[in-house]
Amino acid sequence: MCGIFGYIGERTNAGVIVIDGIKNLEYRGYDSWGIAQKHEGCILVEKNIGKISEVDTLNFQQRCSAAIAHTRWATHGGVTQTNAHPHTTTKRHIAVVHNGIIENYEVLREELKKRGHTFLSETDTEVIPHLIEEEQKITPDFASAVRSACHKLEGRYAILAMDTSSNTLVAARTGSPLIVGVAKNDGYFIASDIPAFLEHTRTVHYLDDGEMLVTDGSSILFTDLKSGEERPKRNIEITWTVEQAQKGNFDHFMLKEIMEQKETIARAVNQNEEQISVIADAIRNAQGTFLAACGTAHKACMAAEYFFSVIAEHHVNVTSAGEFKPYHHFLKPESLLIVVSQSGETADVLEAMYIAKSKGAKVLAIVNSEGSTIHREADYTLLINAGPERAVASTKALTGQMAVLILIAYTLAGKLHEGKMLLLETGSMINDMLNPRYLERIEKLAQKLKEEEDCYIIGKSWNYPMALESAIKIQEVSYIHAEGFAGGELKHGPIALIEEETPCLVLTGNDEVAIDIISNATELKARGALLIGIGPKNNDIFDEWLKVPDAGPAQAIANIIPIQILAYYLAVERGKNPDMPRNLAKSVTVK
Ligand code: F6R
Repeated sequence: MCGIFGYIGERTNAGVIVIDGIKNLEYRGYDSWGIAQKHEGCILVEKNIGKISEVDTLNFQQRCSAAIAHTRWATHGGVTQTNAHPHTTTKRHIAVVHNGIIENYEVLREELKKRGHTFLSETDTEVIPHLIEEEQKITPDFASAVRSACHKLEGRYAILAMDTSSNTLVAARTGSPLIVGVAKNDGYFIASDIPAFLEHTRTVHYLDDGEMLVTDGSSILFTDLKSGEERPKRNIEITWTVEQAQKGNFDHFMLKEIMEQKETIARAVNQNEEQISVIADAIRNAQGTFLAACGTAHKACMAAEYFFSVIAEHHVNVTSAGEFKPYHHFLKPESLLIVVSQSGETADVLEAMYIAKSKGAKVLAIVNSEGSTIHREADYTLLINAGPERAVASTKALTGQMAVLILIAYTLAGKLHEGKMLLLETGSMINDMLNPRYLERIEKLAQKLKEEEDCYIIGKSWNYPMALESAIKIQEVSYIHAEGFAGGELKHGPIALIEEETPCLVLTGNDEVAIDIISNATELKARGALLIGIGPKNNDIFDEWLKVPDAGPAQAIANIIPIQILAYYLAVERGKNPDMPRNLAKSVTVK
């Protein structure tokens, strides 16, 4: 989704700072970029479609102490230079960057047109600077005019604005994230995500929903967007390091993050035992436990349905967060909603959380991004401690989420220590598995499969959601058509797709469905499929076998890792950049 970055302060190279800042936000996904710099009383705007990484930072060395920049992921209007942010007034004395959607922009635009405003783009954003300009006719103070303009906007958004008259940056938020990096005696960095300013500071303030901030670079004031009442903030220190947020010696973040799973399982398991027992009690006592998440995190929740059943004999209800709304009829104050999210900012997950809260239900959040909205607003929280995940395709966050969910299931069954031992052992087996020979073996398989147009994946029990997740991974980075199925469903339709040599991945485990999945795979083999077994045991029907350690009830964690590696190499072999899949965004902050 769109990335925002702004700087105001003592430094006189604000242009360079913000261009570097949005380069650090590339991972969020975007199709165009832009910058507004305040230089000698004027606002200089430059914007374009294409890659910000190819833009020379040295072009932005003009002396200026305030600048705002943006990476745009198109929602309203095509991918064009004109639609890229920042958007300005006709006289270019106000510039705005925006993340989110202004739902009433068409009505506002018509009203503003009647008052003589001219619009150049097809975006919803462009109404904002014009609206601020109109408000300034009544309240000339820039911050007050931004506040009044925001009162007229409907939708979920984060905006950052600058003007030529005041020496300030003004930001407001009603949904999409904005975080302030505080560099003592040096200025303020305002961004959509922490990695953007990690090299400058690890001290942050979070702008909450319904809040606004005004800063002149030496001080900052947070207020309630509606009432104007001051909202005091305390400094929060972030534990993430610059190195964690960089690629290091790896060609891509995706591979770096896959390899980090050597340690991240153990980090996810390192939870406060008292806290996890309180959470297990909350689940035990809840009248209805629901899990909601999106995409890959949703597949972790689907796997959790099996973990809770097999490990703790406890029933939970799982839904994709985007489909949660109709579930509100089941929710009571005694219900519990568990939301799972890497970013902690996904709009559909936030909506599910607010629906549950409106019914008086409690919310447990399992997140990776500390301080994210979901992390701050839930009643109970567990961090997976995977460190920053920057590749769009989620890898280490998924396995961390599943580790935490397995640990909760064991705690619920009164076997916390057994669960901990299983997961630590799984982490150590994954450490051994992720060696150069293993990667080479999968790279060779990718070379063999790279020209394929279709690929199918089957699994049963917790390997069924992993089959769905495998399909997401392969689709999103290699663009090969991939689909996952529950093994038993094949003969009810999908088996018609199988032809001679169609590649089919078979996820197996040493579990109660081990025989069943082999018999499903045999049905594929009989139709000519090329079978690639993934799991602890080889079988005569497999044409290829990727060995995975026997991880018992944590098999889903171990099995998904070779598929992540396969998806990575398929992308590389097909000449695609796995870190930046087309059309996708890392943090999906619009519904
Ligand atoms: C796929 C992927 C997405 C995310 C989904 C939820 O690899 O990363 O499907 O899992 O957008 O994001 P979070 O976990 O941030 O809520």
